[in-house]
Amino acid sequence: MESSAKKVIMISGANRGIGRAIAERLLADGYMLSLGVRNLGKLPKTLKPQVETQMLCHIYDARDRESAKRWVNLTAEKFGGIDVLVNNAGILHTNGLEDDAEDLLDDMWEVNAKAPLRLTRLAFPYLKQSGSGRVIDIISMSGKRVKGDWVGYSMSKYAAMAASQTARLKGWDDGIRVTSICTGFVQSDMTAGNAPSFSQKNMSRPEDVAQIVSTLLLLSNESAIPEVTMNCVFETL
Ligand SMILES: NC(=O)c1ccc[n+]([C@@H]2O[C@H](COP(=O)([O-])OP(=O)(O)OC[C@H]3O[C@@H](n4cnc5c(N)ncnc54)[C@H](OP(=O)(O)O)[C@@H]3O)[C@@H](O)[C@H]2O)c1
Repeated sequence: MESSAKKVIMISGANRGIGRAIAERLLADGYMLSLGVRNLGKLPKTLKPQVETQMLCHIYDARDRESAKRWVNLTAEKFGGIDVLVNNAGILHTNGLEDDAEDLLDDMWEVNAKAPLRLTRLAFPYLKQSGSGRVIDIISMSGKRVKGDWVGYSMSKYAAMAASQTARLKGWDDGIRVTSICTGFVQSDMTAGNAPSFSQKNMSRPEDVAQIVSTLLLLSNESAIPEVTMNCVFETL
């Protein structure tokens, strides 16, 4: 079983929702964390750096290429390397097939598809050096199948899945293992207003996603988990 000692983990969108739950869990697990957030002032108290040496919080905006470069570079500089990237930051616009909303399509392409690929690309040299690098992509069941009319969100998550699978292939020989986590509805701000026909109390918990991430990080290179699907309703794929 792998040890948490000294492993350096980057998490995008760590200030709320699923990213926050993952950050809180991995902090408790004892990892070194580098949190990428748009607004440092919005970081919850639970994630305020108690131990200066265990955490870095850095401005990261998925729409800003330079902020991605600065965050990756500073993380490697502060900790001497990067072992894990958790691509979590994401947005949902609910435009459907017949909506004329190309600006929203572009926005989701930028944040949900291009930005995680960019972070993966920037972190890859460090993950290779690690010898047991990990990329954990928080995708969605919307990146595996189409169930409703959120066409742009689905398109962006299918694209993110393509990037995730490419990273899995390209990283293999250097010990990088990539897991795409595909969940159905999870309790968070994203689903609070956007899934009115489905009660949040019946949705999966962010802490359960965090539990999965925590467990994945304990596995050796020889026990790769390419994909995790998680759902709050019965569904056959
Ligand atoms: N909730 C679900 O049912 C569900 C299901 C499947 C997959 N997912 C995926 O899980 C991930 C997390 O979603 P969530 O449910 O936790 O949503 P959330 O509560 O809305 O949180 C989204 C996170 O992404 C960050 N973010 C948004 N735009 C950003 C940008 N331009 N640059 C940097 N960070 C940005 C947000 O930061 P700010 O606070 O600054 O906005 C926030 O930290 C997303 O990729 C989402 O697609 C969610």
